[in-house]
Amino acid sequence: MPNAQDTIAAIAKRRGYYWPSYEIYGGLSGYITYGDLGTKLKRNIECTWRRYFTNHQNILELDAPVINPATVFEASGHLENFKEYSTECTSCGRSFRVDHLIEEKTGLETVEAMGGDAILRLLREKGIKCPQCGGALRDPVMFLTMFKTEIGATGGLTGYARPEAAQSMFINFKRGYQHAREKLPFALAQVGKVMRNEISPRRGPTRVREFTIMELELFFDPQDPNCPMLGEVVDAPIRLHTEEMEAAEENTPLKTTIGAALEQGHILTEWGAYFMGVSRLFVDHLGIPAERQRFRAHLHEERSHYSSQTYDHEVLLDSIGWLEVAGHAYRTDYDLKAHQRGSGHDMTALRDGTRFTPHVVEPSFGLDRLFLAALEISYERRDKRNIFTLPRDIAPYQVSVFPLVTKDGLTERAGQVHEAFQGAGLATFYDEGGSVGRRYARSDEAGTPLAVTVDYTTLEDDTVTVRDRDSWGQVRTPTHDLTEKLKAYLTYGIDFGDLGEPV
Ligand code: GAP
Repeated sequence: MPNAQDTIAAIAKRRGYYWPSYEIYGGLSGYITYGDLGTKLKRNIECTWRRYFTNHQNILELDAPVINPATVFEASGHLENFKEYSTECTSCGRSFRVDHLIEEKTGLETVEAMGGDAILRLLREKGIKCPQCGGALRDPVMFLTMFKTEIGATGGLTGYARPEAAQSMFINFKRGYQHAREKLPFALAQVGKVMRNEISPRRGPTRVREFTIMELELFFDPQDPNCPMLGEVVDAPIRLHTEEMEAAEENTPLKTTIGAALEQGHILTEWGAYFMGVSRLFVDHLGIPAERQRFRAHLHEERSHYSSQTYDHEVLLDSIGWLEVAGHAYRTDYDLKAHQRGSGHDMTALRDGTRFTPHVVEPSFGLDRLFLAALEISYERRDKRNIFTLPRDIAPYQVSVFPLVTKDGLTERAGQVHEAFQGAGLATFYDEGGSVGRRYARSDEAGTPLAVTVDYTTLEDDTVTVRDRDSWGQVRTPTHDLTEKLKAYLTYGIDFGDLGEPV
């Protein structure tokens, strides 16, 4: 029996969600390419993220370069810290991340958090061998997981691809502050590609060497740390694994709310709590049920060098277990101070004539992981058919349009319906190939919520049938006001039954 991951990977390749990159040259692990359906689904998730996270005047967007001069990452501490323990098989030459090998062998979680000495000891104690060929493993070395390059034809200036978008928000803090009229709080947000030279990438989009990050840095005055929007999410229920619970290896989550977690000191800042609440609502919106979500605190050793508190937002996938989709970090004044030291430029803000360094809270999402989570969780197998019951407003296409048969003027009429939908801004897919049954099946596999069929009755009374992807139920409805009804349905304004008369 193939597992969910293999099934989805096979459909994804066949239907154009995603596939391994560089296929014709034998492939290269850690890289995937998105096709038409995948690109559209990813873009719709990105748009949804913007609606949840940037829909506020004080949240300013940025689009900065991927390649940075080494000075940026020297100052930020990445060149010193963005490293993992790597080992190599003496027989087949493959490389592995040591903490992952230990996790696979022992079932332990978050081995990275145990620190260097424990990791090296466990590798030896457990007698871990190469998982590919059983060969002996070399002594581990620390490996900088950043891509290095030379900038310019003559070289001499070393550059690195950014492993996070955050640093461009920090080095542009002063510009942002100016554009925010020198008032705190404000945020810089960025969606863009980042690169990490992962030691052991996974198949599929969950651990790749190039991925899209959706990141936001909120700058606030530590003496005025209130978040005026907190009320919007204060009652949002969350499942929390606090740092104390992690240290005590307590596996049952604390079921609480954003407000209570803040009050009890489990979350250090109001802004951090606010973004965790928004994160919960955003991930709900992608179709991921509450019981498949949790926030897990990092132990001190696991935290990045810049963070005073980090909660990972994780989702439970049947194929691979808990998967981190976002990190919520309290970066304090670490980065701005680091760049003030590194660049010699002032990175402070002004309060009553006094200069101070703002503090930073960061929600950071991996778009590729959210993409996979939304796809896998929406997958259903029914009557030998594959259906992606994706939320209506993130599905790659919103409506399929079919002529019942390709004769007697139905093709032309269906073409007109399709064009009218397109003209009104709906993402429609016209399909006249094969039987209607096959076209419904293709539409379900593309996750398209609705299929409109033009038939002989359409020529008589200008009505069409509309089929629901999830229930496979059908209604008949006039075309004259259909676009508006479809838009209402696709934005969850009305139910399927409101679209017309049951067939
Ligand atoms: N600026 C903070 C930061 O970069 P991170 O936890 O290292 O934090 C953010 O990365 C998110 O990026 C993660 O929560 C995860 O969803 C995603 N991510 C990290 N490494 C990834 C990889 N190799 N492939 C795909 N997504 C990844």
